[in-house]
This record gives sequence, structure tokens and C-alpha cells, in this order.
Amino acid sequence: MRSRPAVWLRWAAVHGIPRGFLTARARRGEPLARLILGRGDRLALIEEVRVAGPLLRTPVVWATADYEVCRTVLRHNDFGVTDPAESELPGLRGLVRRVDPALPNPVEPPAMLMTDPPQHTEYRRLVARSFSPRSISGLDTRIGDLTSTLLDDLARRRQVDLIADYAAQLPAAVISEMLGLPDEDRGRILSWGNRAAPLLDIGIPWQPFRAAVDELVDVESHLGAHFRRLRAHGADGTPFSKLALDGSLTGRELISNAALLVGAGVETTVNLIGNGIIALLAHPDQLALLREDPSLWPSAVEEILRYDSPVQMTARTALRDTEIAGTPIRRGAVVVMLLGGANRDPEVFDQPDRFDITRPNAREHLAFATGIHVCLGAALARIEGATALRELFTRFPDLQVEAPAERRGLVTLHGYRRLAANLGPVPRRAAS
Ligand code: HEM
Repeated sequence: MRSRPAVWLRWAAVHGIPRGFLTARARRGEPLARLILGRGDRLALIEEVRVAGPLLRTPVVWATADYEVCRTVLRHNDFGVTDPAESELPGLRGLVRRVDPALPNPVEPPAMLMTDPPQHTEYRRLVARSFSPRSISGLDTRIGDLTSTLLDDLARRRQVDLIADYAAQLPAAVISEMLGLPDEDRGRILSWGNRAAPLLDIGIPWQPFRAAVDELVDVESHLGAHFRRLRAHGADGTPFSKLALDGSLTGRELISNAALLVGAGVETTVNLIGNGIIALLAHPDQLALLREDPSLWPSAVEEILRYDSPVQMTARTALRDTEIAGTPIRRGAVVVMLLGGANRDPEVFDQPDRFDITRPNAREHLAFATGIHVCLGAALARIEGATALRELFTRFPDLQVEAPAERRGLVTLHGYRRLAANLGPVPRRAAS
């Protein structure tokens, strides 16, 4: 059911009702509600959650910014994914199910991110073939070539938007190649990712929800046609196209998981690159270290992921009565984990607010989560992030971002909407 009233009902069930509730809680000053609605200083609100103890009790959910608690919950068999269709709230479960538009939503089943074992195990096993060390090492050279082409394009202009013209272009190109989509589809991939990104937030307003649903309708028809073409003409050699052909997934499973790759692969990596540009420009001493010793780039990427995490939160639901950090958690209770907060936990990271690319334990961050849903694209994202940042700062050493850098205005996905930049004097090789 996709008529406008049905889509509105879906919004009301999944976002509208929680939004009303969160608004009331935010008015009473509750830090989690304010954080989720984007009202207030993010880091200060995270610290409010932290000082409340390992687990903050709110009327509907638990919240934590504690590294050990996040790590434990994410790895615990007593917790599963948080699907609104399985909500314990009276009446909501039935309503959410009745108004399912059956679209390939990356944050709803059957996207693997939103399924529990045994279904999750099977989806992950099948899709993981596209991320085997062999597939990723093949992409490494390709990422270098794509980056170089993008930088050549940038060099033709002095004034650029480093998000739209660079940070977003690389992951979109990589995903379109992984899915076997033609180059012309990159703009479309960017639009899908951009307009569907708010779906990761809780209690989003009606307009962005409607825009996201329109985008999902396009995802469904475009990817559906793409996979039908592959079936008719044979695989193109990419592991994902083989998956499309071998019939191990139904059409909806295939499209939902492809849509997840687009959402998870583009909308996060763009933030890693954008957040990295800003963190490095704000800390010239750290950029100088990288110029002296480029072998530090991989550890710089870990510190960027820790310091300004592209995915700020996730949630899990208790599958049975259990206990975390000495606190009893009832079956059906939701735990919201502030990954960005865990990554600044002073118990784990010394002087967590300091940006230090030589931090010995930066890689212990939870920016890619942990446990069975640990980011499938982490190795790929690390290569994309390191290549994009290293090559950008090498090619344009005088690069300046012209204030103000605009944040995206999302809560879960944390990055910049626009980074207007002056690249400085055009390097010689670009002029030829
Ligand atoms: C800096 C970039 C990235 C960050 C910060 C990131 C972060 C995450 C996080 C936090 C999760 C777990 C969410 C949860 O458990 O609730 C996740 C899962 C996932 N990510 Fe990433 N991701 C990034 C890049 C990528 C890329 C490039 C791809 C693929 C091309 C990708 C594909 C996935 C998939 C498929 C899952 C679901 C895994 C599962 O459910 O088993 N991610 N990512």
C-alpha cells in the first residue's frame, strides 16, 4: 500500500507518534530526546547522558554513551535489531505492519542490517562475497584511479563544494561499480542516498519521510529493472551480479540489500571524508605530521572515525529478560547506543576530546559498531577515506574551507552538507 494516506499512516506510526512523545520529553530537558531531535549541543548532550551512569533510563528506552555497555550490548545474544514492526508498544505493532509499503527500505527487513539470525547470517554470508579480501584488493587500485579523475575535475575549478564535488562522488562511483550500474547512474545513487538518509533518524518530520519514500519507489523500479537486465543478459563478473543471478535471494531481498549497500556505503563514507577534511584543517599540527610521514594516514582515518564518528547512534532490543552493567533489562526494552559518545569515553580514550592521529588505541573505536552487524564495508571505507584525504591534501596543499561549513542536520548520520572551498593555486599537472 503506497497511496498518500497510507504513506502518511506509516509515517505517523513509525515517526509521528514517537516524534510527539520525544518533543514532550525534550521540553522537559531530557538529554536523549533533545539529542534525537537535534535540539542542543550534541557533545554536551552526550556528556549529560554519560554522567547519568552506564545506562540512562527514560520512559520508553534506555540510553548509553558508555563504551563497555555499547560493546557488550552489540555483542550480546540477548539483543536483536530494533524493528518498529516488532514494537512492544500497545497498538503500534499492528499499525506499523498494516501500513507496510513493502519498499526496499535499507533500515527495514529484509535489509540485513535489520534482521536477526538465522536470516541475518544467511544474508550476510551471501552479500559478504562482494567484500572478500580479493574483491576489496581489486577495488583498491580502482579507488586510486577514481580519486585521481575526481581531483583532475576539481583542479579545473578554483571554487568547489568538497562534499558534492568530491567526498560524495567517490563512494557513489565505488558502489555503482560494485552493483554493476552504469556511470550515468551515479547522480541517481547520490539522490537515493541523500534523500533516504533521514530514515535512519527517529521521529523525522513528514516532509523528509515522504521525500525518502518517493526515492525508495525509484530505487525499487530502477534496481528491479537493473537486476532483470542482468538476468536476461548474464552476469558482468561482479560478485553482486552473480548473487543477482543465482536465485539465492528473492527480488525484494536482493533490492533491499542492494539499497542498504547504497545507503550504508555512500552516506557514511561521505561523512568520513568531510569530517576528516574539517578535523585536519582545524588541527594543522596533525596535518603537518601527515605531510612529514604519509604512513600515518591509516591511523589518522581511525582517529577521524573516533573523534567525529559518521554514524552517531544505533539501537538494539532485548530479546529476553537480561542484565547489563548490573541493571535488569526487560524483554522488549530498547537500548539506544550513542556510538559517538562511546568513542569519547574517557575510560577508554585518554583525553578523548583531543584530536591525535598518533593515538595508540584509536582503532578500538565503535564507529563501525561491533558484533554480528559490524560494518561489512569497513575495510572498503578505510581505503576510500585514506585515499580520498591523502590525495586531496597532497594535490591541494593550500586548500582552505570557506566558513561556514554547513552540517547536514541529521542525527544518526553525522557530517557536512556543504564544504565550500578554495583549492588555492592550481597545481601544474592540472593545467596541462
Ligand atoms: C566510514 C564509513 C562507514 C561507517 C562509519 C559505517 C558504519 C556502520 C555501522 C555503525 C554499522 C552497524 C550498524 C548497527 O549495527 O546498527 C554498519 C553496518 C553496515 N555497513 Fe557500514 N559504515 C561505513 C561504510 C560502509 C560501506 C562503504 C559499506 C558498503 C559498501 C557499508 C556497508 C554496511 C553494511 C552492509 C552493514 C550491515 C551489516 C550487517 O547488518 O551485518 N558500510 N556500518
